[in-house]
Amino acid sequence: MYRTHYSSQITEELNGQRVKVAGWVWEVKDLGGIKFLWIRDREGIVQITAPKKKVDPEIFRLIPKLNSEDVIAVEGIVNFTPKAKLGFEILPEKLDVLSRAQSPLPLDPTGKVKAELDTRLDNRFMDVRRPEVMAIFKIRSSLFNAVRNFFHSEGFVEIHTPKIIATATEGGTELFPMKYFEKDAFLAQSPQLYKQIMMASGLDRVYEIAPIFRAEEHNTTRHLNEAWSIDAEIAFIENEEEVMELLERLVAHTVNYIREHNEKELQTLGFELEEVKIPFRRVTYDDALEILADLGKEIPWGEDIDTEGERLLGKYMLENENAPLYFLYRYPSEAKPFYIMKYDTKPEICRAFDFEYRGVEITSGGQREHRVDVLVEQIREKGLNPESFEFYLKAFRYGMPPHGGFGLGAERLIKQMLDLNNIREVILFPRDRRRLTP
Ligand code: ATP
Ligand code: AMO
Repeated sequence: MYRTHYSSQITEELNGQRVKVAGWVWEVKDLGGIKFLWIRDREGIVQITAPKKKVDPEIFRLIPKLNSEDVIAVEGIVNFTPKAKLGFEILPEKLDVLSRAQSPLPLDPTGKVKAELDTRLDNRFMDVRRPEVMAIFKIRSSLFNAVRNFFHSEGFVEIHTPKIIATATEGGTELFPMKYFEKDAFLAQSPQLYKQIMMASGLDRVYEIAPIFRAEEHNTTRHLNEAWSIDAEIAFIENEEEVMELLERLVAHTVNYIREHNEKELQTLGFELEEVKIPFRRVTYDDALEILADLGKEIPWGEDIDTEGERLLGKYMLENENAPLYFLYRYPSEAKPFYIMKYDTKPEICRAFDFEYRGVEITSGGQREHRVDVLVEQIREKGLNPESFEFYLKAFRYGMPPHGGFGLGAERLIKQMLDLNNIREVILFPRDRRRLTP
């Protein structure tokens, strides 16, 4: 390997020892008799100091000829000295140029010259070289790790369901159609039907982390056409509250894990992530409409709370209740999909909930209707044909326990957790209305 140590691994115990570092040229400074070179690697920056009298003349000549972002490897002796900005430097004995960078660069990895989001996304490989951008993707990786740890610690089984499917589940968003040999098929909007089918299998507690595809025509800062969904489904529940409790434990575990394990990245972003404490606030749909009416926003009963309503409510919950995270529940049945269970005593409302983080929905979920005759009726009520759901309904006819679950949008969670402006910041290669490459 061209590297024995990352910049962050060079500690005082290595003083006087030989190490190999490698990365991209961050900056070069030529002071005549002494030349400096800063190399950036994944973990930080390391300084190479080349005094004329102490280094190979070949290396001394080469340093000023390096371009920003050339890929180089340096072998040399660690020298801890208060004279170096970072507290140490490396006196080079060997310098290899592994790959040259053309000039001018498509964007400035030091961040001194600001670039438009489009330019950044077109050149994502270089955008990620910026420490603040890299920090987001390190946090994203850590977040998925935390989510998986959580599910396994709670006895969940990871499942993988098809992404080429025959039927829609989520009304409201469009499907991407595709040809499947001689049949019509779609890209999956959600693993909804399959995770529910698995509740009839006896696996009891399942989760899936996979992409979902939604042909959202509009260009917003919180919609993607390909997003990653964290889905869970659990059997033998008595009510939707048990699903909400699972979700709040997951979210609290995940956010607090990031706080603990990604201190360095949060610092790079200059973001203070507050500790999350459960239980989260629960606001009924009716109460939400009342709060909104007081704020001057009237929403007719039965309608979904729109983006502006969500935003106003989020602001209210933060300012008046100190609650950046909260549940909205007891939704009108007409605003939610067919698979949600209605209240027996009050069928105009149902056992669905949304979960909001700083005024943006990051999760939907609820208790499902597991009684097949009622389910068939609800499919019809939504104007859908039960025949096209036969493969799904079959699982309800031979012993289906009461169950419920949720879908948590990973990008929405990360965006809201870090209070970022645009969902495209948290996915490497966003798919949106205009963007299909890179
Ligand atoms: P859901 O659980 O309802 O599927 P979602 O967050 O996945 O929620 P959508 O259903 O697509 O997203 O829309 C949620 C909200 O976003 C809706 O209340 C809708 O008013 C709003 N919305 C939809 N299209 C736009 C748009 N072009 N600009 C702004 N807001 C929009
Ligand atoms: P819903 O349609 O609300 O529910 O989606 C669940 C969560 O997925 C995320 N999400 C998106 N993220 C980015 N871009 C999009 N276009 C997008 N669409 C959805 C959001 C949203 O809260 N089957 C149900 C879940 C369930 O009941 O288990 C469902 O799909 O964070």
